Amino acid sequence: MIPLNHRAVMAGRREPPKSLDYFPTAPWATRAFVRHVLPLLSPQPIRSAWDPACGEGHMAEVLRETVPAVLASDIFDYGRGYDVSDFLATGPGAPAHTVDAIVTNPPFKAAADFALRALALAPIVALLCRVSWLEGAGRYERLFRLRPVTLFAPYVERVPMHRGRWEPNGTTATAYAWFCWAADPLCTGIQMIPPGQRRRLTCPGDVARFAVPAAPSLLAAE
Ligand SMILES: C[S@@+](CC[C@H](N)C(=O)[O-])C[C@H]1O[C@@H](n2cnc3c(N)ncnc32)[C@H](O)[C@@H]1O
Repeated sequence: MIPLNHRAVMAGRREPPKSLDYFPTAPWATRAFVRHVLPLLSPQPIRSAWDPACGEGHMAEVLRETVPAVLASDIFDYGRGYDVSDFLATGPGAPAHTVDAIVTNPPFKAAADFALRALALAPIVALLCRVSWLEGAGRYERLFRLRPVTLFAPYVERVPMHRGRWEPNGTTATAYAWFCWAADPLCTGIQMIPPGQRRRLTCPGDVARFAVPAAPSLLAAE
């Protein structure tokens, strides 16, 4: 993957339409998932994973730090070299890979469709969604009644998400959790992701790798 803050890449950075719900995941939040949730989803180590809504790779690249084979694709070409495909496409040519797990932060509006599609493709599915995604009679009927989650893993601390960029010092009033389905889990029920992950799991290189620098014109105006 091309470094996110590479000058030439930044010059050609492509903004997706708002309808695609592009909210990149903080690197520390994915590391907390890998440490506290992923090992509970299978008795064997997860060897392969697919983020089918990878955006600019904030989650997929962090998964690559520990999972040996990580595929990444998105419906929008952000110019980062990932496959471009519509995860919800059906029929011949619809994207499908044989992986141990599908792991993503799906577009909010289509998250139930993502869950149903992912469950048809992989034995382990883990989706990072707002805690409030639990609510709603329609979603219950379509998804949770038929496919109850195996493991629900809320973050005790808040995970800031911002449209179009990762803000290393961001704040939020929204709570997030992992909604996980696993065919052969080690643990079921609720697993709280303990506090202190943001401080512990933010790495020195994360800003250079994943944060979008302010445009030169903004810096000059300061
Ligand atoms: C919340 S962002 C998550 C990005 C990345 N997974 C992360 O965690 O940083 C949702 C992503 O879903 C992508 N997306 C929306 N609809 C899609 C579809 N039908 N198929 C594949 N990707 C889609 C958007 O382009 C966006 O990058």
